[in-house]
This record gives sequence, structure tokens and C-alpha cells, in this order.
Amino acid sequence: MGAHDPSKEGLLGGHSGRDAHDSDSDSDFDLDATEPLDRDPFSTNSSPSKSQSAFLSNKAAQRPHRPWSVRRPLAGRSRCCVGVLAFIGVVWLLLAAGGAFVYKKYRDEPAYGRSPPWYPTPKGGIASTWAGSYEKAARMVARMTLPEKVNVTTGTGWQMGLAVGTNAPAVHVGFPQLQLQDGPLGIRFADNITAFPAGITVGATWNRQLMYARGKAHAIEARAKGINVLLGPCVGPLGRMPAGGRNWEGFGADPYLQGVAGAETVRGIQSEGVMATIKHFVANEQEHFRQPWEWGLPHAVSSNIDDRTLHELYAWPFGDAVKAGVASVMCSYNMVNNSYSCGNSKLLNGILKDELGFQGFVMSDWLAQRSGVSTALAGLDMTMPGDGVGWADGKSLWGSQLTRAVLNGSVPVGRLNDMATRIVASWYQLGQDDEKKFPREPPNFSSWSNDRLGVMAPGSPSAQDQVEVNKFIDVQANHSVIAREVAAEGIVLLRNDNDLLPISRQGFTDAKLLNSRREILARVTGEDRKTGKLKVGVFGEDAGPGSGPNFCKDRGCNQGTLASGWGSGAVEFPYLVTPVEALRKQFNTSEVELHEHLTNDSPTHKAGEAGLDELELCIVFANADSGEGFTKWGDVSGDRPDLNLQKGGDDLIVKVSAKCGAGYGDVVVVIHAVGPVLMEKWIDLPNVKAVVFANLPGEESGNALADVLFGDVNPSGHLPYTIGKSLEDYGPGGQVMYLPNGVVPQQDFGEGLYIDYRYFDKKNISPRFEFGFGLSYTSFELSDIKVEPKRSKSPLPKPRPSNVVEPPSYSTDIPDEKEALFPAGFRVLEKYVYPYLEKTDDLVSGPYPYPDGYDKKQELSGAGGGEGGNPDLWEVYVVVSVEVKNVGGRDGAVVPQLYLEYPTGGKGGEGGEVVDFPVRVLRGFDKEFVPKGGKTTINFELTRRDLSYWGVQEQNWVMPTWGEFVFKVGQSSRDGGAVEGRW
Ligand code: BGC
Repeated sequence: MGAHDPSKEGLLGGHSGRDAHDSDSDSDFDLDATEPLDRDPFSTNSSPSKSQSAFLSNKAAQRPHRPWSVRRPLAGRSRCCVGVLAFIGVVWLLLAAGGAFVYKKYRDEPAYGRSPPWYPTPKGGIASTWAGSYEKAARMVARMTLPEKVNVTTGTGWQMGLAVGTNAPAVHVGFPQLQLQDGPLGIRFADNITAFPAGITVGATWNRQLMYARGKAHAIEARAKGINVLLGPCVGPLGRMPAGGRNWEGFGADPYLQGVAGAETVRGIQSEGVMATIKHFVANEQEHFRQPWEWGLPHAVSSNIDDRTLHELYAWPFGDAVKAGVASVMCSYNMVNNSYSCGNSKLLNGILKDELGFQGFVMSDWLAQRSGVSTALAGLDMTMPGDGVGWADGKSLWGSQLTRAVLNGSVPVGRLNDMATRIVASWYQLGQDDEKKFPREPPNFSSWSNDRLGVMAPGSPSAQDQVEVNKFIDVQANHSVIAREVAAEGIVLLRNDNDLLPISRQGFTDAKLLNSRREILARVTGEDRKTGKLKVGVFGEDAGPGSGPNFCKDRGCNQGTLASGWGSGAVEFPYLVTPVEALRKQFNTSEVELHEHLTNDSPTHKAGEAGLDELELCIVFANADSGEGFTKWGDVSGDRPDLNLQKGGDDLIVKVSAKCGAGYGDVVVVIHAVGPVLMEKWIDLPNVKAVVFANLPGEESGNALADVLFGDVNPSGHLPYTIGKSLEDYGPGGQVMYLPNGVVPQQDFGEGLYIDYRYFDKKNISPRFEFGFGLSYTSFELSDIKVEPKRSKSPLPKPRPSNVVEPPSYSTDIPDEKEALFPAGFRVLEKYVYPYLEKTDDLVSGPYPYPDGYDKKQELSGAGGGEGGNPDLWEVYVVVSVEVKNVGGRDGAVVPQLYLEYPTGGKGGEGGEVVDFPVRVLRGFDKEFVPKGGKTTINFELTRRDLSYWGVQEQNWVMPTWGEFVFKVGQSSRDGGAVEGRW
């Protein structure tokens, strides 16, 4: 022990000792299979102990039941069980054999791309916008004891508080316990809250104001329920694979769209003082193998990404969130370039904290921390939920182990100070020290019980007093209005032949096309039905309530109308207005006869009802669901197995179209889905006149749909992804890896920049509906494009500015060991994670195996120097404007989109090779309401970052100075009527 040399803080040669991770020789924290990774000089995993692999597999089998449900691949099987098991056994053996081969292969030769070391962690406190908060935080942290600092950084364990995550307070200095709760679309596990539309629906609105408003309303509810930190928004997965299970939590398969929507949501949430968490950093693009053991493998998948692609696609939206001042970033489960994201020094220290200048704190996804000391060194600031490698066993990789690691010198005191300071500064930055807004009380609801009374730490078997854990406070206010607006504006009208939509609540009165349809029907049925009610049929389970919106835990099944995907991003619906309920209520029943067939079975005549061949209009519903990989529904193991409509949706549409009005009735197809679905089986049927893509609408589903069908809201949603004609059309990079290709599955993002529309464009593949597409009941004309340069072109941003403020400095003396001991008479709850030690005489010092590259001084990035990166990257370099006229017959909102075509042919980098660019990339959008006959001007401000590519040689954003940029503004990515300007 002894003083830590400040000059060597973070560098090899300081005090050494054993990794907290290694210090418990009986622990099950070490994974034998990390060995090949640890030999990788770039891996930041700590050294494993060899003896424990067998123990681990047993442990895996004994893992406690995760109360929010666990994947149970064999659940529900009975007699065929033995056969199935035998089959699985054989397959497993084969895979294991293959795995051994690949294990060997990757041991010597990782796929490509490795994560370089980047140490030490840049300290927080260099942005002028955070200066006041850091000053206050520094004063508070300086007074904290070692265990208090550790408390702030470490969760208390799974189910050891009422929220899904809680750290522990620093009581003596007045820092409270923070309450962390999911998720991106509402407050998870809570009563009387709003079930907002999912992120993908928000993306489909292309409406910045609504993105902000939804975030704000969400935060108002969070604060009223006693939450400090919301675990959203989600911008990763980005949507590389259209079948990826959690794409729906984010905003669409484009970094620019994700970035704007994520940043607006962050601003909305934080305007209410609640800390937002942008997640999951980074490249958690599929659910299969996202984390160890969940899929039977000891390790998570490694997303192998090259530097340029990481910058231009996957990290891009996180840059926007940092620029918006986000308080927290959640690192993801997967590995990136063979190093776990939450222990990846290049990602956390290099990109996030140096290059993007992130001033808040990095929090692990739940059990995404895979080692102790090395994650601290790599830039992790808070571990959640506090448990370590196993769920709910009370053995943390930090907690008392972090205390130990600081005392024996393996984790520099300065690193712990920075972790605590970042967390406390974020708390001040959001004004959470104001007790009127954030009373220092636990949440007024429990994530783990619906009863009024319960215990505060249900994860502990220790006896505890019953207290009031649920106060059932209604926090919904009038947020259903925002939920409905988002759901309605997120509806994408994909087809509307002969202007079939909107329809009238009054039946025939003003239903243009339907009058002629009556004539046709009269011919078919031989009746003259010039008078009488309009006969409308509603088909499909997706139109109705099923067994209620909360029938399956965490919404982990597809039944009834689909309003949300499943997993931690889902909430308990307070109510759900189903489509059929809204239609029933709103059609004028003296003019309209409504027939309901709320299953996906083949529709047949029912006695006493109108025959199918008498229906003039048929509205048929179908859907596709997916979710988080901890639970599965049928063959949807988180990720979808394909892009088909589920539960026989395609067949239903085909049958309804054949039978509706004997094949002459008009068919409206309504789809609720987590992402793109294939439509090829029915899209060309002649009487499928309208297709309405309603995404995941949340609690106001039916009302929002009726708003659009009846024309109260003119549809203005646009696709936040491409709808292809087949899954193969998305290219090899668009395919989920369903079977592991190794013990550490290697997923090479070899397609680079070419995902979604960028791939379709490059390969010249015609999609069914392109990215950005969406119709309106009116039409708009774009004209008069103007390009106004604001600054001159230059390849590199201005030099990185020096820090305006300096990070707080503290004593780096290693604290007195006695500080770390359990206070006398302390009541210990079993399995609860504490920062204290029972004794200190077992502390071991000795040479500590710091990761390779730990002693190499890193050059600060030229792309850094401010929140979100070098301030010059955020300067506007050119403004493009267009005139938009509403030339149709109705008022409506238009979404002009600016696509940038980079100048081609230029050479970059030292190698002098020609720089490759996608055909076009989205670099601007807006939504504007324009009355019938009206016009407006839309401005797009393009920043240096918008106009640059990531130069791998330069290690900076580079603006091409050769040739001309082409700006095309249209109403989709392939709009033939787009207007064009150049610079
Ligand atoms: C998810 C996170 C979530 C966390 C807490 C994890 O399984 O990946 O998105 O915030 O659980 O519920």
C-alpha cells in the first residue's frame, strides 16, 4: 500500500496488485473461454483462471430465474421432448465440434479488425457547459469516503431496490441513491403510466417536435414516479439487419435519422431534469448471442467493424446524443472487434470520452460488464445492476472488489474519483439536487410487485419489514394526446389507388369509389342495392383485443393487436384502444354495417350475417412481432426468423381479397410491425387498393388509425427503413447470424457502409417501397432549390481547441484501509452488493498485469475538443432551401428530405486510393404543415460533419474538396421529382 504516484496515474508502473476480478479464487467470474481473447494484445479482458470452466457450465444451468422471464427454448414440449432433446444433443455436439475448429482458428487469427488499446480514461470536466456541475461535484466527491465513491458507481444487485437499477447513496455528503428505469417507450413495470408508441413509430413521423414532446412527457411521468435516470432512448441497434429483434426500440435504419430522433428525445427527457441514457453503445445489432450463456455459449458475439463504418454509421447517432448533453451512455452486451463493449478502451476512452467529449457517465447494460479492474481502466463508470457475471448471486465485479482494487493500487484512485465525479456532476447538471423536484425517496412503485405492501429488496432472502411499495399514483396527465399524435403521424400510407382513402364514417354519402362498387356488386349478386348501408368487414386477430394487451409477460408473445414489441423496452399497458373498437365507435351505424372476423382463420359466412361477397369494403389486419432475446415466442427468438407476416397474415390477406365482394370489394391492408415485412404475396392483387403501415402505435392504436382512415389526420409518416421484396435483397450484411460460427461468434460487418437503402442503391436493387417513402391525401411540389455556402470548403476541421476548463483534481493518495471496513453493527442483507470489506489483512499487492498498450500515451483526437466532437464539426457550412407547395385538395404535412451525393473520384489518405461513397445519404429532413394551396420554404443546415467522411489515415472527419456536392431534396430516397442543387 501507500501513496499512488499521481504522475503515473493510469500508466503502467503505479502501484500494482491483483485484479478485483481475480482476487476471489472461488468466484465463478472467470471464463475459461476468455483465454484466446486475453492473448489478443488488444483485448481488455482480465486474466482468467483456468480451473473453473466445468463449474461454470453447472452454474449456467443453475442460474436463478430472471423474474422478467428467461428464454426457455424447450418450454411447452412434453412427449416429443426426448426426441427433441436427442436431436438437439446431436446438433449441439456437431456445433461444438465446429466450434472447437473455429475456436482454434480465432485463437490464432481473429477475423479482422481488433480493438486497439486507448488509456488512460479522459477525465470529465472539460466542457464549459458542464463547468458549474463539475465544480459542485468536485466539492462533494472530495468529501466522500472510499466506500461512498464505490457506492455511487455500483448497483446494489438485481431486485435490491424498487427500480430495475439502483446504486447506493453517499449518505454523509448528501448524495442520494439513484433510481434507474426502462425504457424507451414508457415506464416499465409501472402502473398508471402512458404506453407511448415505440421508437420506430417515432422515427416514422419524421417530426422533430413530436420526438421532443414524447421524450418530455415520458420524463414528466418518470419524475412523478420517482425515477432519476431513464434507460432510453435507444439508437443501437441501428437496423443493419431488418430481422433484428430490437430494431423497433430505435428510430430507423439510418444514422442521421437515429441521431436526430435520439438527440431530440434526449433534449425532451432532460428538459424535465431526468437523466437520459443513450443505448446500446455499440453494434448490438442482433439478439442471437448478444450475451454469454443466454444462448448456450460462454461468450457474446463480436461485431467486427472497421473504423470508417463505426464512425459514419454505428457511433454517429451517439455523437448527436452527446452533443445534446446526454447524461449517460449504456454500453452494450456484445463485443466489438473481440473486446466486450463495456471493457473496450478504444470505444469508451478513445471514441466516447476523448473524441466525442462525453461528460456524463458510462453505465453497463445489465450484466454486460465482464471483468473488474479492466472495465474500470477501459472507461466504465457505473455497473448495473451490480451483480457480476451471474444474475442475482450478489457477487459483484465492483462493489467490495472495486474497494479492494483501489486499496491495492490496481485501479488508480484518480479513476475512481473520475467515475464518481462524472455521476455526481450529471446529477447536478440535471438539477436533481433540487429536492422539490427530486425528493430523496425511493420510487412510489415497485418493479417486482403489484401489491401495496412489499419489501424494499426482494432480491435478498433476508427477512425484511413490509412497507408501502406501490402507491398507484396516476402520472398520465394528458399524455395520451401526444401518444395519439405520434401514432397517427407515424402511420405510413404506402398505397392508395384511386384515392380509396380516406373513407367516410357516414358510409356511402361521400365515398366516391364505393358508389361504383355498389353497381358492380349489384351485378354480381343480382340485387339492386342503390340504397342501404355500406357493408364493411374487419378481418384479422390484429384488429382486436385478443386476451388483452398485458397477457404475456414483458409483452413476450404476439396475440391480439400488436402495439409494442417485447422485452425491457415494453411496458404494462394502462389500456389499449384496439382498431376494431375505434371503428365500431366511429362508423355511423345507421349508415354502415360492420362485420367482424377477429381471427386469422379463413373467413366464412356466418348465419344471419352479410355474406363476404356482399362486402363493399374489407379492412384486413396483419402483423409481425419481435423483441429482446431473453425470451422467445414460437420461432421468434428475439430476432425474427424471416420478414414474413406472422400468424398466417399473408394467407388471410389473400383470402379476404378473393372473397371480399366476390373479389370486387375494395381491400385496405393495415399492418402493425416491428420492421419491414414482405408484401409480395398480395401487393399486386387488383383489389388491394390501400396499404396502411401503422408500425407499433402504443395505447392509442385504434384512435390514431381511425384518425387517418377517416381523414381527420392527413397521413404524413414516411418509412424509416427500406421494404424489400425479399430478405436476400438486403445483402449478406442484412442477415442475422442464427447459428454460431465459433465459441466467440464472429460477425464481420463486411458490407461496411452499405446497409438498408445504401445497399439497395449500390446494387441497384428495386425495393418494394424505398426508405423515406410515404403518401399523403394531398400532393406537394418542390421547387426553387437554393444553395447558400456559409463557409469555405476545407479538408479538415480547425485544430482541436484546448480545454476551456480543467477537470477537478483530487488527492490521489490511496485511502486508509480502515475506511473500507464494514461499519460496526451494520445490518447486512444477504446478496446485497456492498462496498465494504470484512477485513483488510488479505489485500495483496504485486505486479498487476495491465493491458497491453496501457502505458502508451495516446494522442488526443483531432476530431475531439468539445461535447459531440470538435466544435467546427457542428458549424453550418452550407444552407440548402426549397419551396414546397401544397398542390392537392387537402391540408397536410410534408416531409422534404435532403439526400447528399458526395463528389466522386477524389483520392484520400496516404494510400491515395479513390474514396468510396454511398450513392446518397440522408443529411436533412423537416416536417411542415402546409394548407391546401399554400406554400412554404424549408431550410436545411448542413454541418461540417454532415459533409465529411471519416478519414482512416487522417483519423479525422474529412470534407472532400474535389468536385461538387449534389443535394437532392425529395419526398423519399428515390423520389423522381426531387429538386437538385450543387456546391
Ligand atoms: C437491456 C437494456 C435494459 C436493461 C435493464 C437489458 O437486458 O438490454 O436495454 O435497459 O436490461 O432492464
